[in-house]
Amino acid sequence: MTDNLVIALSKGRILKETLPLLAEAGVEPVEDLSSSRKLIFDTTVNTIKFIIIRATDVPAYVQYGGADLGVTGKDVLMEHGAEGIYEPLDLCIAKCKLMTAALKGEKKPTGRIRVATKFVNLAKEFYAKQGIQADIIKLYGAMELAPVLNLADEIVDIVDTGNTLRANGLEPREAIHDISTRLVVNRSSMKIKHAQIQPIIERLAEAVAKRQRK
Ligand code: ATP
Ligand code: PRP
Repeated sequence: MTDNLVIALSKGRILKETLPLLAEAGVEPVEDLSSSRKLIFDTTVNTIKFIIIRATDVPAYVQYGGADLGVTGKDVLMEHGAEGIYEPLDLCIAKCKLMTAALKGEKKPTGRIRVATKFVNLAKEFYAKQGIQADIIKLYGAMELAPVLNLADEIVDIVDTGNTLRANGLEPREAIHDISTRLVVNRSSMKIKHAQIQPIIERLAEAVAKRQRK
């Protein structure tokens, strides 16, 4: 018997890089994703559907079984926690670093510091490990603005080229974690639908390995 499989894809920058890997693994959407308001899409494999959601929502869909598989950033996965989620493959795309950053040349405060971030759990964990008392301010974007307007002493955010930091007078400080996009699987789907899921993981792993050899 073949069950239906739902794969949760992160919209935005990850989606553009994920679709070619999925195509190499033999699964493609049957219609143009960008010109549709739909959220669920048929694919060239009649038992597989794609859902297109925010990267931050992928772990919840996979954890609770709304989706069998998912594709999202390691940053998002670490912030959410790994309960009920199996992470079999690094897709090696959307590579970046989770870092602290502050105004260029500004000294770190000696006592408590204020930190703006959307990665509240990761920031708490990082500063606690350093023995620094941090008041975390949750933001949903444009974290780089916070030190400029004295909302925070530091930020915890994604850094790739460093252009966004530089353009706003900030500098990178400590690296917290290397980030890339991961394939994740619901733990019970992995058991119940193993015969269908395992070949997808293997074909995606081959597609990733082929890219790395280039
Ligand atoms: P949301 O839509 O939920 O607010 P977002 O705006 O962070 O999420 P994207 O910017 O598409 O969504 O980022 C999705 C993922 O891509 C991040 O979780 C991270 O893993 C990775 N990423 C983010 N920024 C960069 C970057 N500048 N370079 C490379 N990878 C990045
Ligand atoms: C991400 C991240 C940084 C920027 C880093 O933002 O939050 O702001 O990329 O990349 P860089 O080091 O190459 O400049 P994104 O472009 O996703 O915009 P967002 O603020 O909407 O998340």
